[in-house]
Amino acid sequence: MTTSIDQAFLAQHPTSAELHAEAERLFPNGVTHDVRYFDPFGIYVDHAAGSRKWDVDGNEIIDYVMGHGALLFGHSHPLLVSAVQNQVGSGTHYGASHRGEIEWAHAVLDLLPSAEKVRFTSSGTEATMMAIRLARAFTGRPGLLRLREHFHGWNDSVVAGMGSGGHISDGGIPNAMAGLVTVVDQHDTAALGAALETKDYAAVICEPSGYSMGTGPLDPAVLHFLREKTRATGTILILDEVVTGFRAADGGVQEATGIEPDLTTLAKILAGGLPGGAVAGRADLLDQIAIPRGSDRSGAKRVAHPGTYNANPLSAAVGSAALREIKKGEAVATANARARRLTQGLNQAIRDAEVPGAAYGQASIVHILLGEDVAPPDDGFTWNWGNAGPQAIVPSTPAALQWPLRRSLLNHGFDLLGAIALVSCVHSEAEIDLSIDAFAAALSDLRREEIL
Ligand SMILES: Cc1ncc(COP(=O)(O)O)c(C=O)c1O
Repeated sequence: MTTSIDQAFLAQHPTSAELHAEAERLFPNGVTHDVRYFDPFGIYVDHAAGSRKWDVDGNEIIDYVMGHGALLFGHSHPLLVSAVQNQVGSGTHYGASHRGEIEWAHAVLDLLPSAEKVRFTSSGTEATMMAIRLARAFTGRPGLLRLREHFHGWNDSVVAGMGSGGHISDGGIPNAMAGLVTVVDQHDTAALGAALETKDYAAVICEPSGYSMGTGPLDPAVLHFLREKTRATGTILILDEVVTGFRAADGGVQEATGIEPDLTTLAKILAGGLPGGAVAGRADLLDQIAIPRGSDRSGAKRVAHPGTYNANPLSAAVGSAALREIKKGEAVATANARARRLTQGLNQAIRDAEVPGAAYGQASIVHILLGEDVAPPDDGFTWNWGNAGPQAIVPSTPAALQWPLRRSLLNHGFDLLGAIALVSCVHSEAEIDLSIDAFAAALSDLRREEIL
């Protein structure tokens, strides 16, 4: 008798099941991040190194979650470990300025074309919150224009209308706040243009790769359109490069496309896998945070920015080390090459299994779309719009398929973030090939159980 995907999952993960039962009494759903919610339970990781992690039941897994995209250098890269070790004994919080934050800022300005000044935060969510506030303060306009499905964290302005797993996740957002936000389909330039013409909006914010880490790729022509229209209407253009910063190219999507935003939000790779975020961009926008000097400070308006962990010395040390290494020019290129190899292999496996679907990617981010009859990428990598053109909405792997796929992949030692593989520069070609074999085995499981 063959073992089903679910039987194998339960048999391989008994200790994770026990820990999950305990965690359910402690955390809502037993998890500490929405995307870690998993049916019947998520795996508990014991330790990790390079491109691999080991769970509490001793299963070895090639990891493509990669710290939700923070780990361009894989787990515990020696360079970053020594940066932590060197710093941790010299103090983890000075409650004062330090050389490390200056070095970190220089590293950002060296890589990011549009950055004149920077301010560090503790997370990407704080960065998008700050960028939106800076834009509102500068323009005096309350409105915010967002693109549908684009993700920017969980502050009030960016969760209005946000869905997750079929639920609307905007509980607790007052209507007055939600009413300030307009959401438009990412390729609807007519609606975007009309909204901008009203001059009601302080800013447009978008994921420059397209929604959900590029699951729905964005035509760069839209970015050019937004740049032109925002300039003409006095609207601030915010590129949310929390994921794409130091990944889409060394200097993010803005380097790859030549589009210069007014503000950029950063996190993830910025801090080399430790907590940290930043807003970088035009000095006149960031300088609204400056506390007015001089004798008469009454009535002067500024933008507040406290934050206990801003530019934390540990994050600064690791972030600087990561960005200096990226500046050498090999890390992003290597991760991109590995992602291309992975995507081409996944497409071959999909063809061999004769199942509907395709894998596609941008830079070192790979998307798996199963259960939809879509044209595979012409070059084995880039999303194929076919006849539909960029106006089409890219479908996603249905939930009914995504979870068994991920359970089966975990059974075969391969972990994804949703249906996304984030590739690092330490995934070797041999590990990529092993992952392709694991994926082929998962497809065969899904076919056997007639899920696919
Ligand atoms: C594009 C984008 N912006 C903002 C955020 C929020 O960052 P954080 O999770 O550090 O708050 C994320 C997180 O995944 C993201 O992908």
